[in-house]
Amino acid sequence: MIDTKTPFDALLSLHSDKIESFMLAMIDQTIIDERSVLIDAIRHSLLNGGKRIRPILAIAANSLFSKDVDSILPLACSLEIIHTYSLIHDDLPSMDNDDFRRGKPTCHVKFGEDIAILAGDTLNTLAFEILSTHLTAFSDRAVLDVIKMIAKNMGVAGLVGGQVLDIKSSNKLLNLEHLNNLHQKKTGALIQLAITSPAYLHEVDTSIINDLRLFGFHLGLLFQIIDDILDVVGEKSQLGKSPGKDQELNKLTYPGIMSLDECRRIAKEEKNKALACLDNLQEQYNYNTKELLAILDFTYNRSY
Ligand code: IPE
Ligand code: IPE
Ligand code: MG
Ligand code: MG
Ligand code: MG
Repeated sequence: MIDTKTPFDALLSLHSDKIESFMLAMIDQTIIDERSVLIDAIRHSLLNGGKRIRPILAIAANSLFSKDVDSILPLACSLEIIHTYSLIHDDLPSMDNDDFRRGKPTCHVKFGEDIAILAGDTLNTLAFEILSTHLTAFSDRAVLDVIKMIAKNMGVAGLVGGQVLDIKSSNKLLNLEHLNNLHQKKTGALIQLAITSPAYLHEVDTSIINDLRLFGFHLGLLFQIIDDILDVVGEKSQLGKSPGKDQELNKLTYPGIMSLDECRRIAKEEKNKALACLDNLQEQYNYNTKELLAILDFTYNRSY
């Protein structure tokens, strides 16, 4: 049989057990009163689902500086936990009104809107509890810098601000600059953090962090362009979420303002720009960027 495993699949199988067990260990299993429904909702949305691209990215970015995976797991998993909170809230009836996510009913469909909102809130604070407790391999100063950076970029300046632009841009004809800004904030900011945070923790030179930030910028934008394309051409069973939602909700997306061929051309441009950043990191600092390249290739070619 031909081995169809991609380098990204190989990375995932190498690290997924550690990621899943760390996240499971972070969920409070001792609650036995009425609050246990919150724990059930968190387990439903967080465990057994998702491509885990953000934690894998953090581990891959960390591999430039260290071979130790365990010490970066708290960061990697915190970012996945924040991402999961953002998905629960993104799916709410007042947001994208989605009923299917990660191959399962969405959190609010299964547990009610009240518990879904609270599960999202809990995951968001849990991430910061983990970051401030478990990143023990790094200096307090570096950990504090990373926490500040994540907090800032997950608020109005980044993810949440991007979600507001997403909602408020519906039904409007807007330009590409606005669309890129929206995508960069709602999706790019977290992807960029997965790439830059390990460098901050290892306290490497600013020039290296800047190169990684630029790589993250192009990868983040590419990720959301492909997400937009998959909303048009993807299969529900493969995506694990319902396609066709962007058009239904009149969202401002790439395929909403240009042809699919044009979207794919821009995606390729972003991929090549990201590739140039990796080449630069390899040539200038002699870093082994193989793992980051595997994630870039997956992001560009993915069908789910
Ligand atoms: C979906 O993210 C939401 C976006 C930010 C585009 P993913 O495609 O990474 O979703 P999961 O984590 O695999 O479910
Ligand atoms: C989601 O963007 C971005 C965040 C969750 C912050 P989308 O709304 O396009 O994601 P999907 O398509 O529902 O996964
Ligand atoms: Mg959305
Ligand atoms: Mg959505
Ligand atoms: Mg989408």
